[in-house]
Amino acid sequence: MGVVEVGGSKNDSVAIMAGALLVPGKTILHNVPRIRDVETLLEIFRHLGVASRFRKDGALEIDATDLSTTETPHDLVRQMRASFNVLGALLARFGHAEVAMPGGCDIGARPVNFHVKGLQQLGCRLRLEHGIYVGEVKRFIGANLSLEFPSAGATQHLMIAASRARGRTVIENCAVEPEIVNLADFLNACGARIHGAGTPKITIDGVEELHPTEFAIIPDRLQAGTYAVAAAITGGDVRIRGAFADHSRPVLAKLQETGVEVETTEDGIWVRRAIPRVHPIDIKTMPHPGFPTDMQQPFAALLTLADGVSMITETVYESRFRYTTELAKLGANIRVEGRTAKITGVERLTGAPVTCTDLRGGAAVVVAALAAEGETEISGLEHLDRGYENLVPQLRGLGADIVRGSEKWTSGGLRVCSA
Ligand code: EPU
Repeated sequence: MGVVEVGGSKNDSVAIMAGALLVPGKTILHNVPRIRDVETLLEIFRHLGVASRFRKDGALEIDATDLSTTETPHDLVRQMRASFNVLGALLARFGHAEVAMPGGCDIGARPVNFHVKGLQQLGCRLRLEHGIYVGEVKRFIGANLSLEFPSAGATQHLMIAASRARGRTVIENCAVEPEIVNLADFLNACGARIHGAGTPKITIDGVEELHPTEFAIIPDRLQAGTYAVAAAITGGDVRIRGAFADHSRPVLAKLQETGVEVETTEDGIWVRRAIPRVHPIDIKTMPHPGFPTDMQQPFAALLTLADGVSMITETVYESRFRYTTELAKLGANIRVEGRTAKITGVERLTGAPVTCTDLRGGAAVVVAALAAEGETEISGLEHLDRGYENLVPQLRGLGADIVRGSEKWTSGGLRVCSA
């Protein structure tokens, strides 16, 4: 039996870090993962005059007292999605900000129209000039907002902006993810007055000022899900320590449907596969509490070895199936039509050179490689580095034969071997 520790959530960290810009003084965050998106955001912060450091005990200190410029480094902002939330925080503090259109994984059009509309409804004048959003607002004014889709990013961004608005803001049809609840808890610990996070209607009574706090990032439910699938695809028996089962209910339920045994333990989740092949299942991605879009890729890898035909329907993003061509190189039988992937289970996968097309697509090829016969070389690791902390040592700790280029191998990729 193997044991793996789940680190702090990427998506929770970057949201709370943006929120910390609202707070003059030293914010202390525990459990922030050392991943590239966090480093990129800290680099953006440095350009804004925000001091930060990881302490010896692993906690991250962010001091936004001297936040000085309201023009962010555009090239860095374009490297990730959550950097856009800096806009609302800067506007709340200074009344002026310039932030580029954000980047992130290439998984289809990822507009920011909900963010823009919401900020405008809070009284901000916002215009797009040469790919840069330029915002002006005296002070945000509370308003009634309703999102067209329960966007995680827009909910977080508007919560941050409205925290220091004059009056009451209500956000309807908002996202209900655990990361939304934790951001609200963080802001409330700083003196904000937010109610209803975790439900589709959040009410925010704006306050004049926020004060620093010490706060913990939640465990990464997507990392936990990835390890659960790794255990399932290899026929393993793995304890995922630190995972909150409650945050992963739809994923665990689907895993059980494939015939994999899942148990909630005192300190996490226990996953083991006792049957020779998993059963095929159908998955439809939905906003939380539905099946998360970020987990369809590792699940697709698992289902390539199921004893039948599975269907995955992606409803959140328009093109999140690019990684399936990589799985096909390992021998998977996947046919994509529009937003649906039909996966006909095969008896075996065999190692081949593959690449990570995006963060979770990368997780899918790594998981598949663990079960593929022979050697798989994986390139494009910069995607994995954005969101998985210590992936190689963690998988190696579970018994995987996995080596990263910089250690032994010269091509810079990942080599995964299986019996
Ligand atoms: N959308 C719009 N307009 C907007 C905002 C969103 O049309 O202004 C659309 C998106 O294009 C997408 C849908 O709404 O089709 C949902 O997007 P959402 O805003 O919820 O996503 P996000 O906040 O940009 C976060 C995670 C993603 C995760 C999604 C969905 C972060 C930093 N990213 O993105 O995580 O897929 O929520 O749960 O929190 C990942 O970790 O690999 C990742 C991509």
